[in-house]
Amino acid sequence: MDDTTPLKSPGPDGSGTPGDAPDETPGNAPGSVELLSLHKAFNKFTAVHPLDLEIPAGSFFALLGASGCGKTTTLRMIAGLEKPTSGRVRLGGEDITALPPHKRPVNTVFQSYALFPHLTVAENVAFGLRRKGRKDVAGPVKEMLGLVQLGHLSDRKPAQLSGGQQQRVALARALINRPQVLLLDEPLGALDLKLRRQMQLELKRIQTEVGITFVHVTHDQEEAMTMADTIAVMNDGMIEQLGSPEELYESPRTAFVANFLGQSNLLPARVTGRRGGHLQLDVFGGRMTLPAERSTATRDTFVMGIRPEKITMAEAGSDDEIRAVSAGRNRMPGIVTEAGFIGVSTEYRVRTHQGPELVVFAQNRDDYRPRVGDPVLLHWDPKHGFGLDTADTADAAEASPATAEAPAEEPAPEPLR
Ligand SMILES: Nc1ncnc2c1ncn2[C@@H]1O[C@H](COP(=O)(O)OP(=O)(O)OP(=O)(O)O)[C@@H](O)[C@H]1O
Ligand SMILES: [Mg+2]
Repeated sequence: MDDTTPLKSPGPDGSGTPGDAPDETPGNAPGSVELLSLHKAFNKFTAVHPLDLEIPAGSFFALLGASGCGKTTTLRMIAGLEKPTSGRVRLGGEDITALPPHKRPVNTVFQSYALFPHLTVAENVAFGLRRKGRKDVAGPVKEMLGLVQLGHLSDRKPAQLSGGQQQRVALARALINRPQVLLLDEPLGALDLKLRRQMQLELKRIQTEVGITFVHVTHDQEEAMTMADTIAVMNDGMIEQLGSPEELYESPRTAFVANFLGQSNLLPARVTGRRGGHLQLDVFGGRMTLPAERSTATRDTFVMGIRPEKITMAEAGSDDEIRAVSAGRNRMPGIVTEAGFIGVSTEYRVRTHQGPELVVFAQNRDDYRPRVGDPVLLHWDPKHGFGLDTADTADAAEASPATAEAPAEEPAPEPLR
């Protein structure tokens, strides 16, 4: 990223300003987090490149990225557990960079719940209040246990709870002090898949109910998309793209994002003209179009991406039939080479006549279901494509080895029939 303006995430309602913030300036609302050129190096290794980021109060914000990209380091700098090499952290408009962790209105939930084994559920939850010298803890503890739906287990010890229940206790314990910001570092990592999915919805409900800013770190794209209002995709200590789950998925700006969130087919394209807001493209010798606003590419030779589920497969008929079915749509004929039944859908691989193999997801309904070896016509609405600079695709294969290979610089000049 080369722009210097801070990455600004929209408010929880998508408006850009939190609903009932007392202050006109979103950055000053209690619970808003601002990172100003926040940077962390361990000796010569830069874990987090200078990062500018605004997280509005009351939002559910996810930091998403592969292992080692700097997520925990960023979170620890917000919590005060890691000293930044340079840069500032502001919370509710106040500079907290120099404050020790316990003086920050922030709490953290870690992957290992770190509950006190000798204390009951209720005593674990009460801990934060007691440490502050509060005696009348029964009311707030009951309220918190109600929030995480554990009222009936308040007398148990952590060892008598399931993983998901322990996670809820950790959450109640972190929320009882009413922090302005809750930091969550892979809090669902220890749970099995089904429980994870259940807890994702639960966490979202709890965040909506308490209205506290949640900053959630995960490497699971589905988890980030399920819960977050805004996702920042991190790669190598930098934020590649920030936006709502829909924005990131539908309009990725880099190949890394295109393949980290779901899968993408990436095809080399060359602009041959422009007409009515559309780019006219040469893709492997065939003509295709792409709405100009769907491309972030800065050069005329770039990469066009198309998501597997946006592609329709039709029976390959005569040339006339092909033209009829695909009028106004981008199209590529090919042969089915693989068909993997997933249940709700089938994942196909189609070797196109022009060369590249495309991944196609088709829902399992009663309509056309080709078999391996069948000739098919792939077609899609041009508005579902997206354009990226070729340079970005270097990371693409790394982001997801299962998707189409990063394309060669020069498209093979084989004409589409
Ligand atoms: N105390 C440290 N000393 C040296 N290097 C460190 C230290 N802490 C983290 N790193 C390095 O900084 C990079 C970022 O680490 P970080 O823990 O932030 O990654 P992460 O995105 O949270 O990864 P994961 O998903 O595996 O938890 C890694 O390459 C890591 O090895
Ligand atoms: Mg981590």
